[in-house]
Amino acid sequence: MIGGLLPSGVEAVEAFEDIPGEPAHPGEADLIARAVESRRCEFVTTRRCAREALGRLGVAPLAIRPGERREPRWPSGVVGSMTHCAGYRAAAVARTGVVAGLGIDAEPHQPLPAGLEPSVMVDVEPTMLTRLVATHPGIHWNRMLFSAKEAVYKAWFPLTRRWLGFEDVRLAINPAGSFTARLSVNGTRVDDGPALAALHGRFLIARDLIVTVVVVPPTTRWAISARAETVERADDARRHTQHRPPSVSALDKVPNTTPGAVTGY
Ligand SMILES: CC(C)(COP(=O)(O)OP(=O)(O)OC[C@H]1O[C@@H](n2cnc3c(N)ncnc32)[C@H](O)[C@@H]1OP(=O)(O)O)[C@@H](O)C(=O)NCCC(=O)NCCS
Repeated sequence: MIGGLLPSGVEAVEAFEDIPGEPAHPGEADLIARAVESRRCEFVTTRRCAREALGRLGVAPLAIRPGERREPRWPSGVVGSMTHCAGYRAAAVARTGVVAGLGIDAEPHQPLPAGLEPSVMVDVEPTMLTRLVATHPGIHWNRMLFSAKEAVYKAWFPLTRRWLGFEDVRLAINPAGSFTARLSVNGTRVDDGPALAALHGRFLIARDLIVTVVVVPPTTRWAISARAETVERADDARRHTQHRPPSVSALDKVPNTTPGAVTGY
């Protein structure tokens, strides 16, 4: 289900049930040693999904420990995200050359609990939701907005290492299945990538679930160096009339992906 929302090169694995009695990975057992059964189940199944997805990238099974703000610490060169809610667990991972950041979230397709709306919406979002409810009834748009913002946060945090509040993000929802999240805070990244100003995502509603994903396109260092190379070549062409063998182009370093699918978010 979630795989259809993600660009090629991103590996996703989901589960709709837990395996009764499944043991924790030895390197993660301490993390749930005192957890209640429901937490144990979501943790074990979701991390199994993550290891399976990592396996598809060629990464051998390993413990996925949390960082200081609960974010999953992925192996070097990998980005990813995990989610779990009643009846659903999922993980998505990709090489950093394929995407720079990922956020996934799932919620039951039910109304947002009473009283929560004011704290998760800003600006024109209530008006947008009123319009969506009128034009597309039967969809719990307030829960979809909530899920999308959580996916935004999961993509945002590993790239910035900073908090992002619901009030810092204004969502524009396209009922056909996509959304744009405009950020009103400094989006400087810790990976030297371009500051985050807007994030793009997709969503689906199926099996009584809302699933949202946010994909941050690959770090434009490649694109920047490729552009610089193009300018350099144009300058070279103007300076030299005779043929020169091409240098190793930065374009050659562009990873083997379908960037259109990623940047098309
Ligand atoms: C982090 C948060 C988004 C997680 O959402 P959730 O509803 O608790 O639960 P989900 O099942 O969907 O996701 C939980 C997973 O998110 C991941 N996660 C937790 N903190 C994270 C962080 N700081 N960065 C990235 N991923 C994180 C973890 O993998 C976690 O699962 P785990 O604890 O089993 O490893 C939420 O708890 C939170 O803190 N929200 C406030 C911030 C926010 O959403 N701002 C909105 C800005 S628009």
